[in-house]
Amino acid sequence: MKSYEDKLESFKNKLLEIYNSDFEKVFATHSINRAKTFRINTLIDANKARSLEMLSREGIVFKQTEVSNFYLVTKESIPLSRTEAFSKHLIYIQEVSSALPVIELNPKPNEKILDMCASPGSKTSLIQALTNNQSFVTAVEKNRNRFFKLKENLNENGVVNVNVFNADANRLVFIKPEYNNYFDKVLVDVPCTTESKININEHDSLKEWKLSNAKDISKLQKGLLNSAFKMLKRNGTLIYSTCTYSIEENEEVVNWFLKKNSNAKLMDINLNLHSLQSGKLEYRNKKFNNDLLKTVRVLPTEEFTAFYVAKIVKL
Ligand SMILES: C[S@@+](CC[C@H](N)C(=O)[O-])C[C@H]1O[C@@H](n2cnc3c(N)ncnc32)[C@H](O)[C@@H]1O
Repeated sequence: MKSYEDKLESFKNKLLEIYNSDFEKVFATHSINRAKTFRINTLIDANKARSLEMLSREGIVFKQTEVSNFYLVTKESIPLSRTEAFSKHLIYIQEVSSALPVIELNPKPNEKILDMCASPGSKTSLIQALTNNQSFVTAVEKNRNRFFKLKENLNENGVVNVNVFNADANRLVFIKPEYNNYFDKVLVDVPCTTESKININEHDSLKEWKLSNAKDISKLQKGLLNSAFKMLKRNGTLIYSTCTYSIEENEEVVNWFLKKNSNAKLMDINLNLHSLQSGKLEYRNKKFNNDLLKTVRVLPTEEFTAFYVAKIVKL
């Protein structure tokens, strides 16, 4: 069993290998107590100013982030999760980075949208918030407890028009053969090693972490991405995302997928933010498809946690 210090050393070396000159900046974000971010839940009350006013009255000070309708708490007299605005679901506590895959998916009313790995439902509910509950969402969650959590969360936050499945998303196309080449848009927010969440001041946050986890989980990620693509219709758009740094879980998965699917094309990501870097083109003597430059890594800052986003269209 490796000691905490050994693990920390390997985590640092991994970040150094991925980020080189940005290493110090990235590593520093793993010892800060990150401020909470939230969005106004327009599905409960479309009057954003009213919800923001309620929060201010409760002693929450906040500022607008780079992402529309997302705010960063700069001072709180009580925890955000104890405010009346939160208990009435007028606000939704969500990391700003977690909104980016959905913003890039650009959901529109009447579109058929599949959310492959949905619980707890932050992205499912944002899809419906952006379309005012007007798109037709299918949300899948394999874990039974998390499936119930997802249902409860959608219900409490005024989200409707969502068909929720407790199933392995890889099996969905067999349970529902009509979903073959069916969805206009698919979001594959895969389970990952969640390195963005590591806080080095909490020894427990590296407890489960080890270098080999990334390679192990990448098999699951490849399977989910491939299954997702089967259910995407021609000219449809798919977003693949993780909240981790590993190249094995990000560029390598997408590179593997592109080799397997000649009818898949990577597209530019249109997010206009400070904290973005292009995907990597090589890693440990492996060279990736040049189009991987179109994928983005969200660098962690005070406002953003690390994320990786790839946008794929079916030809
Ligand atoms: C990164 S989390 C998703 C977070 C969610 N998209 C959100 O923003 O709230 C990944 C989820 O995928 C679920 N999952 C893992 N394997 C799955 C599978 N084969 N089919 C469906 N869901 C799966 C996990 O239980 C977990 O809840």
